[in-house]
Amino acid sequence: MKSRNSYELNLMKKSGSIAGSALRKSLETINIGVSEIEVDKAAEEEIYKLGGDLSYKTVPDYKYATCITVNDQVVHGLPTERKFKEGDLVSVDLAVMYKGWHTDCAWSVLVGTSEHREKQRFLKVGEEALWDGIYQAKLGNRIGDISYAIQSRVEKAGYHIVRSLVGHGIGRSLHEDPEVPGFGDKGTGVILKQGMTLAIEVIYTKNTSEVVLGSDNWTFSASDGSWGGLFEMTVIVGKEKAEVLTKI
Ligand code: MF3
Ligand code: CO
Repeated sequence: MKSRNSYELNLMKKSGSIAGSALRKSLETINIGVSEIEVDKAAEEEIYKLGGDLSYKTVPDYKYATCITVNDQVVHGLPTERKFKEGDLVSVDLAVMYKGWHTDCAWSVLVGTSEHREKQRFLKVGEEALWDGIYQAKLGNRIGDISYAIQSRVEKAGYHIVRSLVGHGIGRSLHEDPEVPGFGDKGTGVILKQGMTLAIEVIYTKNTSEVVLGSDNWTFSASDGSWGGLFEMTVIVGKEKAEVLTKI
């Protein structure tokens, strides 16, 4: 992937700020009795209100603003009429296109107010793994440094990285080279240059690194029915550190 110039990076920044706001808005909507489709609509409304467009519209046959996954579902969930319940683990994944520039982000939350300690720990580890990965996204490091940082944090906590789905370069398209796996070895892969734009993703489950495709032909779930989590931010690789574009 080429590095972007400052004009292009400014458009990416704007795209990312819309995506981050829409993600925050949609997460705030999540509550007991609210449906997935309502959350998707909240995201869509915010993206349009801020002058963005739906990046997922560029995916053939996909018509939603977001992907929403609950409990054992891990990625690519189609928003449905299903209503959230106390203790549900919910992930919202959304991407924005602004003047042709894409940014992508996802976050996972717990529904309700009761203590669900194990689920809280599960989410905390996923978020920490994302920050560990982002911390490595700087000049002179390699993709494998990001991957290794994510994998170590998740596996040390006893959880598992999904192998068949990865983060990615992003910019003119939603998915670009290079792949950014959440698993791998330090010092391997593409060398990072300033101005590269990456969607770094932590895609993990409680008990297994395998996912299965559902009957809707979109949704991937943990093969053993355990929990799935998803944390993703779009960043610009920097000289000393990455700049996060999709902050919520
Ligand atoms: N956000 C997903 C990713 O990170 C892509 C979802 S594409 C969709 O790569 F069509 F399923 F929405
Ligand atoms: Co992505």
